[in-house]
Amino acid sequence: MDLLLQGRYCTCDAGDVSVHEGYVGVADGRIAHLGPNSVPAAEVVEVDGCILPGLVDPHTHLVFGGTRVDEFARRMAGEDYRTIAAEGGGIARTVRGTREATEDELFERAAARARALRAGGVTTVEVKSGYGLSTDHELRLLRVARRLQAEGLVRVTTSFLGAHTVPPGRDRASYVDEVCAEQLPAVAEAGLADTCDVYCDGVAFTLAETRRILAVARDLGLRLRAHVGQFDDLGGAGLLAELGALSADHLEAVSDADLDAMASAGVVAVLLPGAWRTLRQTPPRAERFRERGVAMAVGSDLNPGTSPTADLGLCAALAVRDAGLTLEEALLGVTANAGRAAGVEAGALRVGAPADLAVFPFADPRTLAYALGGSRASAVYLGGTRVAGEPSAPLW
Ligand code: NIG
Ligand code: FE
Repeated sequence: MDLLLQGRYCTCDAGDVSVHEGYVGVADGRIAHLGPNSVPAAEVVEVDGCILPGLVDPHTHLVFGGTRVDEFARRMAGEDYRTIAAEGGGIARTVRGTREATEDELFERAAARARALRAGGVTTVEVKSGYGLSTDHELRLLRVARRLQAEGLVRVTTSFLGAHTVPPGRDRASYVDEVCAEQLPAVAEAGLADTCDVYCDGVAFTLAETRRILAVARDLGLRLRAHVGQFDDLGGAGLLAELGALSADHLEAVSDADLDAMASAGVVAVLLPGAWRTLRQTPPRAERFRERGVAMAVGSDLNPGTSPTADLGLCAALAVRDAGLTLEEALLGVTANAGRAAGVEAGALRVGAPADLAVFPFADPRTLAYALGGSRASAVYLGGTRVAGEPSAPLW
C-alpha cells in the first residue's frame, strides 16, 4: 500500500451514508483497501474528521470571460432574466466576454474556479462549453476544460453545449443546422467532448430542435444530457428518458409522466439550487422525485448569469432547505448520484476506484449539508496524491 488513511470514513457507495471506523488504503492511485483492519503501508495518516469520496460537481459552466454583476443588480431591482436576454444580454453577453479573452486568460480564470471548488472537496467537475457558439470558439472552451485535468487540478468530464442560445443576428434554423452539421462533427472528431448538452426551454431551443441535435450527438458516440424545464416544461425530460440520457438538469417545471419516464430509464435529476435562488424561482420538490424513484444529484451550475458560486457544499445545503432533500440525499447528491449523472467512475469509496478523496474536519458527514456553505476540506487527494486542503478545527 502506498498510503493508508486511518479514521472515520463514509463510502457513499450503493446508498451507504453511515460512518465506519477503519482504514482506506491507496495503491497505484486507486483505492486498494477499505475496512476495519490495518494493512502495511509506506505512509500512514491519522485522520481527524471524516474521509469522503472526492465530491462530484455534475453541472458547471466553468469556462467563460467577463462578469454579469450589473445584470444581477438590474434583476434584483425587478427586471426579468428573459427580458435582459432578449435585449442581447444574458448568455449572449458572456459569449462576447468569452470571445474577447485569450485561451490562456480563459484557462487562468477557469483554474481559479476549479481550485475554489476543490478547496470545498470537489475532485471531479463536469464542464460545459456554450459561451463560444461557433466551431472554433466552442473547441477553444473544451480545450481549456480538458487542460484543467491535464494540469492535475481536478478530474474533468466535458459537455458540448453549442446549443446554449441562438447567437444574436443568426437565423435559428441555420444555427441549428450549423450545430448539427459542423460544430458537433468537429467536436467529436477532436475528441474534446464526452457528452452533448442542449438548453431546451422557451428562451432557448424547442423540443424538436433538441431531439435533432441530441440524435446527431448520439450517432457521433456522445452521451447525452440537457437543461430542461428551467422555466418552461417543453417535455425535455421525457425526451431524455427516451434517449437514455445520463441526466436531466434543472427540472423546476416537469410533468409527473416525464418523471416516471426518467425513473424507468435511470436518468438522474440534477438539481441546481444556485440557479433557482439567483432567479428567485420556486424550487422543485424532492418528494416528487423521491416517491417515483428518480435519483437526485446536486450541481453548482457555476456560471456568471444565474449561479455565481463555486461552493458545492452550499448548494447541497440549499437543496435541503429549499427542495426538501434529506441530509443523506444531499450527501449522495454531491457524491455517488453526481458521479452517475456525470457519467464517471467517481463519487464513492470502493476498492478499485480512483483514490479521489476529500477529508473534512467534521466527524458527521451530514455536516456538509448542515453547514450553510463554507465547508473546507482539510485534505484533498486526486488519484492518491494530496493536491489541496489545510488542516483546521471543525467550525460546526
Ligand atoms: O444553467 N440555463 C442555461 N444556462 C445557464 C445560464 C447561463 C447564463 O445565464 O449565462 C443555467 O442556468
Ligand atoms: Fe446550466
